[in-house]
Amino acid sequence: MQQKIAALFKEIHGREPAVVTRAPGRIEFIGNHTDYNGGTVLGASIDRGVWVAVAPREDAKRNFFSLFTGETVTLDAAVSLKQTDGTSWINYPLGVIAALPAFGLQAPQGFDYVAMSDLPTGAGLSSSAAIELASGLAFLAITGQHADRETLVKIGKHAENHFVGVPCGILDQGVSGFGKANHLVFIDCRGPRFDTVPLPGDAHFWIFNTHTKHALVDGLYAARHRECMEAAKVLGVSLLVEATPAQVDGAKGKLSADAYKRAKHVVEEIARVDQTVQVLEKGDLAAVGALLTASHRSSQTLFGNSTEELDFLVDTLAATPNVFGARLTGGGFGGAVMALASADFGDAQAQAVADAYEKKYGARPDILHMLTGDGAQVV
Ligand code: GLA
Repeated sequence: MQQKIAALFKEIHGREPAVVTRAPGRIEFIGNHTDYNGGTVLGASIDRGVWVAVAPREDAKRNFFSLFTGETVTLDAAVSLKQTDGTSWINYPLGVIAALPAFGLQAPQGFDYVAMSDLPTGAGLSSSAAIELASGLAFLAITGQHADRETLVKIGKHAENHFVGVPCGILDQGVSGFGKANHLVFIDCRGPRFDTVPLPGDAHFWIFNTHTKHALVDGLYAARHRECMEAAKVLGVSLLVEATPAQVDGAKGKLSADAYKRAKHVVEEIARVDQTVQVLEKGDLAAVGALLTASHRSSQTLFGNSTEELDFLVDTLAATPNVFGARLTGGGFGGAVMALASADFGDAQAQAVADAYEKKYGARPDILHMLTGDGAQVV
């Protein structure tokens, strides 16, 4: 990919890029919708991601080319507004540029920019955070600036919250920034504090991407965010992480039926993340898997962000030998299911799961066997 993007850059811009960066996609391992509630979460950075190549220009033109759309879009450096005309991926690098001054950093002026990706989109693997981090590293490099990893992660989140307009937490950018091969990234989102936890050798990730997506997915994410904040208010805490499961149960009569279920999911899910860290340390993948499947059940029945298709995949996978556990990964409302399996689970079993799904829904999920990889870097 590194040579490919340099060659593509040369073909389009007739010169070498000044810098090439790469940031990985991520799998949400466990901790569903805990991040913006100040909780804990575990994620894995994967061996696929986004590559960005950039070179500064003398003038104030910004030429963006990506293989996502196959076209170049030229904007003047004075243009800092959100793009709405079908080239919306540009909002990720533009959002990063708009975020830099908020961190005391200087925004780049004119540049040529090329992006490439080997991340499947719509699979809940967070290509947007990968674009943000790869772009952020590249813009810092061409302006001769340096930021620590935590600042880079926060710049990406700022772009997403304030420019793109998604009230997401720090999971996606945190995992893409702090990822390490053969490890999970642990985030205590209140600090935030980042750590890594070794992944036992027999842990294999399989992604089943249904390509289904609820038409209102962005609005539903924002609605869940709102419900959680409302529940926190009724409970008298600033974020749900400060409430105990007993407090949530005690406030059942004061919370709306939905707010109660959302809050119950969040506080119990945070406890599951902490239990997962403990059983991971013992290398007990069966116990880890049980927690993953319990997390899915909670998304299904309490948080209300699963779908019939995702539930079917989890049910089928949970009944398949050599699968430790399975759950929806990411925001939900469609997308993908992640299974944690042993090395004995192979393509034949994965295809059998896809067969069963196809028989029921008339469409086949994509199957991806994922490896972990390192976090964002200049390559
Ligand atoms: C999306 C968001 C994350 C997180 C997950 C749900 O991936 O971008 O911040 O909230 O959903 O856990």
